[in-house]
Amino acid sequence: MSEQAGTLLELTGITKRFPGVLALDDVDFELRHGEVHVLFGENGAGKSTLINVISGTFAQDKGRFVFRGEEVRHLTPHKARVMGISPVFQEFSLVPDMTVDENLFLGRERARFTLLNKRAMRATARQIIAELGFDLDPTRKVGTLSRAHQQMVEIAKALLTDVKLLILDEPTASLTEAETTKLFALIDKLRAQGVGIIYVSHRMGEIKQVADRITVLRDGRKIATVAADSVSDTELVELMAGRKIDVLFPRIDHRPGERLLDVRDLTLVSGAVREVSFHARAGEITGIAGLVGCGKSELVRAVFGLEPIAGGSVSLFDKEVSSFDPLAMLRAGVCYFPSDRVAEGLALARPIRENVSMAALDLPGFARGQVLRRTEERRAVQEIADRLKLRPAQIEPAVGRLSGGNRQKVVLGRGLSRDIRVFLFDEPTVGIDVGAKLEVYELMKVLLDLGAAIVLVSSELPEVLNLSNRVYVMHRSRMVAELTGADINEPAVLACFFREEPAAAAA
Ligand SMILES: Nc1ncnc2c1ncn2[C@@H]1O[C@H](COP(=O)(O)OP(=O)(O)OP(=O)(O)O)[C@@H](O)[C@H]1O
Ligand SMILES: [Mg+2]
Repeated sequence: MSEQAGTLLELTGITKRFPGVLALDDVDFELRHGEVHVLFGENGAGKSTLINVISGTFAQDKGRFVFRGEEVRHLTPHKARVMGISPVFQEFSLVPDMTVDENLFLGRERARFTLLNKRAMRATARQIIAELGFDLDPTRKVGTLSRAHQQMVEIAKALLTDVKLLILDEPTASLTEAETTKLFALIDKLRAQGVGIIYVSHRMGEIKQVADRITVLRDGRKIATVAADSVSDTELVELMAGRKIDVLFPRIDHRPGERLLDVRDLTLVSGAVREVSFHARAGEITGIAGLVGCGKSELVRAVFGLEPIAGGSVSLFDKEVSSFDPLAMLRAGVCYFPSDRVAEGLALARPIRENVSMAALDLPGFARGQVLRRTEERRAVQEIADRLKLRPAQIEPAVGRLSGGNRQKVVLGRGLSRDIRVFLFDEPTVGIDVGAKLEVYELMKVLLDLGAAIVLVSSELPEVLNLSNRVYVMHRSRMVAELTGADINEPAVLACFFREEPAAAAA
């Protein structure tokens, strides 16, 4: 089959074992020239592992690897790149202290830093970024960029070489509609040039939009390869989960009570948020929608004490907050869930148990150094892990061994390990599979019933629209609308974005 015209990559019987886990079990996979082939499956199904094998990061234990008609052995990341296999990974590989264009050319010949080369580098980078239509400054240090912008750098980096096989592992997880549209246009262009694309995503909508074929993995095994236009969403989800999942969003009974959080005229030193007011009440989900870079993440980060404040006030339980500091906020009963689980969230080398209980360590129930407490900690963390359906369901392995989506669950698990009334969720379901998303939403329901106030910041419009009782819309650092009841719909939110900038809408 591999010599047949049209086949770019053919994998047969790929098996990969990690200590205690059979991550890939006899998987066959074929990619054609000019095809977008989606990998679909639950968190931990083996998608990233397969991609790592294809890009030379991990060697398979068994199986045949044929690329452009030739069998490949002992693949390394470098060799893969030379062959034209370009991966964009789920966890980024950028150097925070270097600028965008330094990162782009890291490890390539042109990265010798003569003035001339630097100029040539910059020009190439600008061209690629312009072509992608991304709003990105090549001279900025990567560490100062948002996750979305870092994602754009990763994509641009993958396109610098003569790419024959492009791998995108959840590329839109932190992009909004506008950027996603541009990425899709680029994918179409590459497809027309005969580039084969492997695309991993948990978002049903875009899978159907972008895929030619879909391969579903479950527990390391290939379940099926189907033509994208021949399956329904329900069928796809059923293949993924091995069971029926009917609803994508649960029904939520909001019972708005007292105002737990009151933010008035908040302005940040960075200017990312200007004179923003909003409030959150117990028993309801308050949504904050907006495009990437509108300031919505910075807003909740500031409330939690992570961004310097220039003016305005924040009140908790009717008392004005005087010192903004995350630990004080936690003690006061506020928890923030970051969107960037690695940079802000997790100690990858430490056990899951520690990562979950970290936020709770100063509580009496979790005091260190006492054997009994340790048992208590283990019990509490295991219970949280079970509730979030962590896979594998063990709490002692290091977080670094978990799949991307399961790492996100560990971040979520933290907020559950102590007495919290106000939950600030920043893109809580980025990278989480459809089934696990439902679990997160169900969890929010439980929190609401316990009298919590939930603030949900999300770039995924369907999520904000379906879950929130009230939706605030931010645009260019300002709060531009508060929607309630029947006004909570997509056109209403989109209208807020384009109100003052009709030109940008067409760009
Ligand atoms: N470096 C590693 N060491 C040990 N086990 C690993 C390692 N990487 C992945 N695994 C395990 O292999 C299995 C497959 O993980 P993989 O990252 O491929 O899942 P995935 O399909 O990409 O999931 P997600 O949607 O959450 O990103 C999981 O059980 C995971 O815990
Ligand atoms: Mg993955």
